[in-house]
Amino acid sequence: MVSCVAWIKARPALEGNDSNVDAVLGASPKILVTGGTGSFGQAFVRRLLDTIPDCTIRVYSRDELKQYDMAGSLGHDRRVRFFLGDVRDRDRLERAMHGIDLVVHAAALKHVPICEFNPAEAVKTNILGSQNVVDAAIDAGVKRTIALSTDKAVNPVNLYGASKLCAEKLFVHGNVYAGSQDLRFACVRYGNVMGSRGSVIPLFQKQAASGVLTLTDRRMTRFWLSVDSAVDLVLHAVGQMQGGEIFVPKIPSMRIVDLARAIAPTARIEEVGRRPGEKLHEVLLTAEESRNTTDCGLHYVVRPDSGSAPEPTVAGRALPDGFAYSSDSNDEWMSVEDLRAFVAETMAASPTAAPAAPELSAVPETP
Ligand SMILES: NC(=O)c1ccc[n+]([C@@H]2O[C@H](COP(=O)([O-])OP(=O)(O)OC[C@H]3O[C@@H](n4cnc5c(N)ncnc54)[C@H](OP(=O)(O)O)[C@@H]3O)[C@@H](O)[C@H]2O)c1
Repeated sequence: MVSCVAWIKARPALEGNDSNVDAVLGASPKILVTGGTGSFGQAFVRRLLDTIPDCTIRVYSRDELKQYDMAGSLGHDRRVRFFLGDVRDRDRLERAMHGIDLVVHAAALKHVPICEFNPAEAVKTNILGSQNVVDAAIDAGVKRTIALSTDKAVNPVNLYGASKLCAEKLFVHGNVYAGSQDLRFACVRYGNVMGSRGSVIPLFQKQAASGVLTLTDRRMTRFWLSVDSAVDLVLHAVGQMQGGEIFVPKIPSMRIVDLARAIAPTARIEEVGRRPGEKLHEVLLTAEESRNTTDCGLHYVVRPDSGSAPEPTVAGRALPDGFAYSSDSNDEWMSVEDLRAFVAETMAASPTAAPAAPELSAVPETP
C-alpha cells in the first residue's frame, strides 16, 4: 500500500487537471487572490507564475509589510500587482476586480479562539466580506469565483466554522444572483494545512526544547493536507466548476498525539483540556450532504441542495446511504514516521510557516 506521504506527494500528478484552466480562462488570464499574502495565497501565486507564463495576478490584502515582503520574495515579478484593501470594502474590491477572469477568495480570519472572542470581526470579514466578494464579482463580470472553506464549517461549533458555513452558502447562492450571465461561483472545503500560518507545528517545535508538549485532548484527530494539495484542488475546481459545487478532497487523517510524538519523541505530553468551540474530530461531509454528493475518485463534489440554481452534472459514483466523511473514521492515516518526514519537508519549504502567536501558545489553534 502507498504510504500517505507518497500518496499526498502523488496528488499533483494524479489530479493533473490544471490544463483545463487554460480552456476556461484562456492563455493570458487575469487572476485576483484575496488574502494573497497568506499561506495558501503565496503558494497559489507561485504556482500560477510557474505554470502560466502570460498571467496577470492581483494580490488583495490589508497589511503593506506582508505585501512588501512577498513582492521581494517573488523578485518583484512584474506579473504581480499588489492591492491594499479590505474585503469589508466593496468599492475597493470592485476596483480590484476590474478586467479579472478568476477570483480566488482566500482572505479570512481563521483562528478559532480569536474569532470566538471577536465575533463581530469574524462576521464582518468572513461573512460580509464574502458577500462583498460575490457582489463585486457579479458587478465586475468575473467569469469564475471560488472560495476556500474548511472542515470547521461542517456542523460548526465555533464562530469561525459558522462564519465559513455562511460564506459557503453565499457562494453557492451567488450562482442564482449571477442571472443569465455566465458567471460561476463554487467552493473548495478541506482540513488543516500542514505548516500554514498559526499551525500547531511551530508551537510543538518550540515546546520540544522544554521537554513538555501541551495538547488539548489525546484522542483528537484531524484531516491534514499540504498547501500544494490545496493549490491543486483549487486549480482542479476552477477547471471543472459549473457553479454551486463544493469540492472536497480525499485526504488522510492524523492523531494529534502522533504529531506530538513525531516532533518530540521523548517529550512529556500534558493535556490542557479542550477549548471552547474545539471538536474532538472534524467532519468534511455529513450524512445529509452525502445524499447530494458525488464520489469523483480523488475527491468528492457536493452539489447544491437549494433547488433554485441549475444542478451541475458531475461524473462519478453516488455515495452509500448515511455515508459521512469524518477524521476519526477515515481509511487513510498518517503514521508517526509519515508525519515526521512530512513535517521536516514542509516546514523547510514553507515561506509562511510563522511561529504561533504568543497568545495561542498554551492552546494551539490547529488542530
Ligand atoms: N490554514 C488552514 O489550515 C486552512 C484549512 C482550511 C481552510 N482554510 C481557509 O483557507 C483560506 C486561506 O488560509 P491561510 O492559511 O492562507 O490563511 P492566512 O495565512 O492567515 O492568510 C490570510 C490572508 O487573508 C488576508 N486577510 C485577512 N483579513 C483580511 C481582510 N479583512 N481583507 C483582506 N485580506 C484579509 C491576510 O492578509 P492581511 O492580514 O494583510 O489582510 C492574509 O493574506 C482561509 O479562507 C481559511 O479559512 C485554511
